[in-house]
Amino acid sequence: MTTKEQIMENLETVLVPSAMRSIVGLNLVREVNTSDGKVNIDLSSTGLISEAKDWIKHNIEEIIQQLPDVKEVTVKYSDAKAKDLNKINQIIAVMSGKGGVGKSLVSSLVAIALNRKGFDVGILDADITGSSIPKMFNLNVMPGGNGSGLLPVLSRSGIEVMSINLLLPSEDDAVIWRGPLIGNTIKQFGEDVLWGKLDYLIIDLPPGTADAPLTVMQSFPISGVIIVFTPQDLVEMIVRKAVNMARKMNKRILGVVENMSYLYVPEIDKKIEVFGRSRGEELALIANAPLLGQLPVDTKLVTLCDKGDIELYDSEVVAKLGASLIESLSLTVQE
Ligand SMILES: Nc1ncnc2c1ncn2[C@@H]1O[C@H](COP(=O)(O)OP(=O)(O)OP(=O)(O)O)[C@@H](O)[C@H]1O
Ligand SMILES: [Mg+2]
Repeated sequence: MTTKEQIMENLETVLVPSAMRSIVGLNLVREVNTSDGKVNIDLSSTGLISEAKDWIKHNIEEIIQQLPDVKEVTVKYSDAKAKDLNKINQIIAVMSGKGGVGKSLVSSLVAIALNRKGFDVGILDADITGSSIPKMFNLNVMPGGNGSGLLPVLSRSGIEVMSINLLLPSEDDAVIWRGPLIGNTIKQFGEDVLWGKLDYLIIDLPPGTADAPLTVMQSFPISGVIIVFTPQDLVEMIVRKAVNMARKMNKRILGVVENMSYLYVPEIDKKIEVFGRSRGEELALIANAPLLGQLPVDTKLVTLCDKGDIELYDSEVVAKLGASLIESLSLTVQE
């Protein structure tokens, strides 16, 4: 006899066209029943155009029919909201008190680090007007889906990505939108993107501590934030602003990341602090959170980002970032 578990295992192999994730991963399988060789499967049609629905149905019938003792397979579709299907374990927002400090880079590296550890990870590029994530991952396909749900695009290493840039006709189109429109887009991302089952969703917040990052923080059930900064003048004040914002919003600070902390010169085996004295430890104390990592200034990073090959960046720093973040997430909150 074929069991429900075996059926689910087989459904794992059925991919949603364009999203390239399985119907189980996208949490579209609502119910599976089996008795006397009859198998009934209820699916949600969220984000599926009619061709995709037919294709998936046909695929399921073909696969399940081959299992022992299965005589009949019925696949039925019902409606559900994307938001109700999303099962995201932790949502982590990456913020900075100031623009251009490497927030998008850190968001990407955090996602890559967690993905390398075997977790299901997504990135939401919530920096509507300064969107840069798709370029780093070399993504330029239009997300699939329809009015009932928007399907993220899968990166080469299997990270789900959603960004306004993917939805614009041309990658170079500048987004010059006013506040309310930006707010609506963010809310729509919160409602309509079908992430399915994810261990971690990383949100690249807009820079600064003004309205735009606040809207995002209010629109998603964020578990915690990571604060990114660089060694520079007034860094303490900039980090304090970000810390205050996170505290006001009642969000836990999971850690801080110092970017462009030093330049490593292999010829003399020395780290040179090119942008000023590194203050990682000190600012971690101010934030009352762990220092998750200190990223070097690395020309390799610039090249990889420009080529859309960020997923090829192989550095101990990335592994450490992932490990210390997981450690921080596992700590019980002591307020
Ligand atoms: N550690 C680093 N080494 C070398 N280049 C870096 C490093 N960090 C960031 N950069 C480069 O600096 C630029 C800005 O980085 P990034 O886009 O991540 O900043 P951001 O904080 O997201 O900016 P914005 O505020 O505009 O969103 C990128 O082109 C990136 O390649
Ligand atoms: Mg950015």
